[in-house]
Formats: sequence, structure tokens, C-alpha cells
Amino acid sequence: MSHGTGQAAAAVGEAHPNIALAKYWGKLAEGPNLPAVPSLSLTLAGMVTRTAVRLEPSLPGDRLTLDGAPAQGRAVQRVSQLLDLVWHGPAGASQRRPAAAVESTNDFPTAAGLASSASAFAALAVAANAALGAERSVEELSSMARQVSASAGRSLFGGFVELPAGKLGDDWLPARPLAPADHWELRLVVAVTAVGPKAVGSTEGMIRTAATSPLYDGWLRWAPESFQQIRQAVLARDLDVLGPAAERSALAMHGVALAADPPLVYWNGATVEVQRAVARLRAAGADAYFTIDAGPHVKIITTADQAEQVAAELAAVTGVHRVIVTRPGGPARLLTEGVDGR
Ligand code: PMV
Repeated sequence: MSHGTGQAAAAVGEAHPNIALAKYWGKLAEGPNLPAVPSLSLTLAGMVTRTAVRLEPSLPGDRLTLDGAPAQGRAVQRVSQLLDLVWHGPAGASQRRPAAAVESTNDFPTAAGLASSASAFAALAVAANAALGAERSVEELSSMARQVSASAGRSLFGGFVELPAGKLGDDWLPARPLAPADHWELRLVVAVTAVGPKAVGSTEGMIRTAATSPLYDGWLRWAPESFQQIRQAVLARDLDVLGPAAERSALAMHGVALAADPPLVYWNGATVEVQRAVARLRAAGADAYFTIDAGPHVKIITTADQAEQVAAELAAVTGVHRVIVTRPGGPARLLTEGVDGR
């Protein structure tokens, strides 16, 4: 164990959200949060979660503030889970972990639907690693963050990132970088269609889907093929293949979720209107394709030279609150180390 050597008492980490082009939906029935299907995402610049971890051995337990407001319950539990993983490592450690005060802020509106757990737990992983002096590799941090939120495992890396499906019996499953941010000058236009948090979180939604959706087996069989097609299209920078394949991955994910009991309907009216607007843009010759996560917002994949035009058209769709143009971004990183010199 490396605890104590180079242990910093406080550190700040920074990470970007990511959007899956090939969707992850569903977990293995057993094991530490192992995805049932492979996924592929793009890490996004321009939006950042910044997380400070300060060791406070005198505290009775970990403390968390999110955008300045104290958090309780499940959010704190997940933070403690990741702090424990980073401290103990896969083999475990006998020393007791000091409690930590964690402060996390997003520089983007949480209403954008991009304030997913991905950037939060990726930023926490790098900050915790430094504050606790754990000296984990980025692969270890990715595998650990993945146990708390699978999409967070991907945000440790920049650019295009893949996360394989888990295998029963495995603990170890990091994401891995497929191509750096500058591999392909894509743009992702976020069309914000609602304010407030989503109705059903992804973990609950996935469990319900696996337990009740008659389409789940078909999704598990189909998703790996779709992932391979998307992977090849990214490597070849082929938007004519990537675009339709990413749309289908998202629609298939929502299809299997819609068939759950009770149904998981993440869309609102504007979610559908934006899809129709994207189809109209395409009919008029634009390169624009949509993807949708477990919420009502729509993210449009397009090229750098068409992004402003696409954004302007989508901003005019009824029910769209605002649009944000994003680009491929870099990996999670450490901002400061050993702030109070302990
Ligand atoms: O890992 P989670 O719990 O953030 O779930 C992510 C689920 C989707 O965003 C819908 C798909 C994905 O691959 O990111």
C-alpha cells in the first residue's frame, strides 16, 4: 500500500461529461455494476465538474456539497463508496480511511441534463486519488468510478472512449480510450427541452427494464453488433454510418425501456419535435443526427462547420429552452495537490 507516502490532504479534480454514441443500458445481475452491453462515448469540452476533496479525520463521516448545497442520502453514500474503493484498492487495506469533505460544482446548468454522474464521479476519482495519496493508475480509477456509475468510468478519458461489457465474476473493468479528442472535429449540439431532474434514475430504470421488458433479450443480442458498427465508423470518421447507427442505438435503448412495466417514458413533446426537426434538416442536406439519454433532452451530432446553423434551427423548435454547442474534450485531470501541505 502506498498510503502515507505522498499523501495530500486536499486536492481538486476536474472532468467533463460524456455522451454515449453506442448506449449502455442494463447491468449484469451480479457483480460490481458490470454493464451488460458495450458502450462508446464522446467526452465533451466546454462543460466541467470540479470536485475538491479535503481529508477531515475529525469528522464523523463524509460530507458532500453539490453546487454549494449540502447533500444527503444516496449521493453521499456513492461518494463514500468511491472514496473507499480508491483508499482500499482491489485487495483492501487494513488502515481506516479518514473522512472527507467533498465539494463539487458544475460550470454548466444542471437543467441541461448533462450534469450526469459521469463527470462528477470521474472528477471525484482523480481528486480522491491525490488527497488520499493512493497512487492509482487512470485504469484503476476508471474501473473504480465505473463501479459507482458506469458512464463515469468513461469520463476519466478524453475523446472517444469505449467501455466493454462486463463478464460474470470480474471486478476489473476500466473504460479505454479509442481515439483522442482531435481525432474527429465533431460537434454535439444539446437541445435542452425541460428543467428539473429526470423522473427515474438510470440505475432504477435499468433494473426495471431487465426485470420486466419483453424486449430486453433482443437488446442484449443486438447491442454488441451496433457497438461494433459505431466503433468502426468512429475510427473511419464516417458520419454517414455513425449518424444513423447512433440514432438507432438511442432509439433501441428507449424502445426496450418503453416496453418495461411500468413503462419508462423519458421523452416529452419537444423531444419528439427535435427529432422531427433533425429529420427535416437532413432532408435539406445537413449532416445532423440525434441521440437521447435517460431524459428528455436531445443531443445532435453534426460537423464543426454546420453546428451554428443546426443550433439556430433547433433553438427555434417549440419547447426547446436553449441550445449548447459542445466539442470533443480531454481527460479528467488533477488541478492542485497537497493544498494544505500535510
Ligand atoms: O452509468 P449511468 O448510471 O450514468 O448510466 C448511463 C446511461 C445512459 O446515459 C442512458 C447511456 C450511456 O451509455 O451513457
